[in-house]
Amino acid sequence: MKKDIRQMHLKTLSLYFLILVCGIGLGVTLIFCLYSIPLNSKQKQFFSLEVPYNNFQHQSGLNPINPQVTNQKDSTTPPTNIAVTNTSSKRVTEEPKEVSETPRPAASSAFLHSMTDEELFWRASMVPRIRKTPFKKVPKVAFMFLVRGRLPLSPLWARFFRGYNGFYSIYVHTQPYFVGEVAPEPMFQGRRIPSEVVTWGEISMVEAERRLLASALLDFSNERFVLLSEACIPLYNFSTIYSYLINSRKTFVECYDQDGPVGRGRYEHNMEPVVTLKQWRKGSQWFEVDRHLALEVICDKKYYPVFRDYCKPACYSDEHYIPTLLNIEFPMENSDRTLTYVDWSKGGPHPYKFGKWEVTVGLLKHMQNGTQCMYNGEPTRVCFLFARKFIPSSLFRLLELAPEVMHF
Ligand SMILES: *[C@@H]1O[C@H](CO)[C@@H](O)[C@H](O)[C@H]1NC(C)=O
Ligand SMILES: *[C@@H]1O[C@H](CO)[C@@H](O)[C@H](O)[C@H]1NC(C)=O
Ligand SMILES: *[C@@H]1O[C@H](CO)[C@@H](O)[C@H](O)[C@H]1NC(C)=O
Repeated sequence: MKKDIRQMHLKTLSLYFLILVCGIGLGVTLIFCLYSIPLNSKQKQFFSLEVPYNNFQHQSGLNPINPQVTNQKDSTTPPTNIAVTNTSSKRVTEEPKEVSETPRPAASSAFLHSMTDEELFWRASMVPRIRKTPFKKVPKVAFMFLVRGRLPLSPLWARFFRGYNGFYSIYVHTQPYFVGEVAPEPMFQGRRIPSEVVTWGEISMVEAERRLLASALLDFSNERFVLLSEACIPLYNFSTIYSYLINSRKTFVECYDQDGPVGRGRYEHNMEPVVTLKQWRKGSQWFEVDRHLALEVICDKKYYPVFRDYCKPACYSDEHYIPTLLNIEFPMENSDRTLTYVDWSKGGPHPYKFGKWEVTVGLLKHMQNGTQCMYNGEPTRVCFLFARKFIPSSLFRLLELAPEVMHF
């Protein structure tokens, strides 16, 4: 009798134990299942469009400009052990599709993203049809630096930007082989975009400009887009430049018709009928456009191939492509003038370079106030917001004179 009861107890006990083991097993299985569900819900995709995220896996908190960006799982890293057999061929062919659904995080924290041009332009071409944003939108100005490598005047720019976080975004396109830091100041960290080799006067220059525009378009808060070089300086403080750009009813792309070898002489008759000689225009490379024109430039499949195929040195696409495109398609949206002062008075293919001894109060005042132009239908003497070319040795004079002449 006692033995029977003991055996029954033993049986019940082992049953409980079995249930316990099953329960634990089920729990573990469930946890693994939940982990393997991909993390790309609709909302995540939306945010990754608004702010292209960096890879902060190793150096979180390096970028103070996008504090809302959190650690991301590098979910799109290709599997390391793809065997070259037919059993795994399905996985290999599926791989590019996965990449195009979620942008890849940047390979290094110096870069803003790691998209290919094809992915980048496709993403940037999207336009929201609902005007009201689900976030509080403060219009921003995108400062796009097209440089070779380092930005020697960055201390001046850093002083210019300081205190205006949230009103600007910075993008930097360097030569791809440049290693090192573009600038040490915090606002320049993590702002490089993937780049290709740029050759002076060739179509690769326009390609780099389009790459900068596309990267800046990914941030829906950017409303105005300025192209700058490492030799450019701001001529006014941030608040003056910001309100000038944000409140302007027109864009600032220099655009004129010029006779002679350096104007109409660069036109190539093979461009007909897409571009005729009468539509051909010239203008400074250093442009300022709004969101609408930026989109038109990066989505253009009509004029760009013509320039790529027929405008080769001594035809310089960077001086003709955007001015001609705007002249044909959107002449009423543009003011036909540039915001970037440059001195061509000494002649030659390159403008004058200002060094340490030439930077004076008189020079800067002349750049600020030397000409007259129209702004929103009114005459003004504030025609240039930026100036070039300043060589690195001019930095200390500029820093010295900035408070007095440029109010920053
Ligand atoms: C592997 O698959 C491809 C097409 O998917 C086929 O053409 C080829 O013959 C296959 N190779 C082998 C060894 O089965
Ligand atoms: C910016 O410069 C303008 C003159 O261009 C000046 O009136 C204004 O006070 C300056 N703003 C700041 C914040 O220093
Ligand atoms: C700008 O130039 C005009 C005409 O030369 C002059 O009357 C005006 O005082 C100048 N303004 C400044 C701020 O220097």
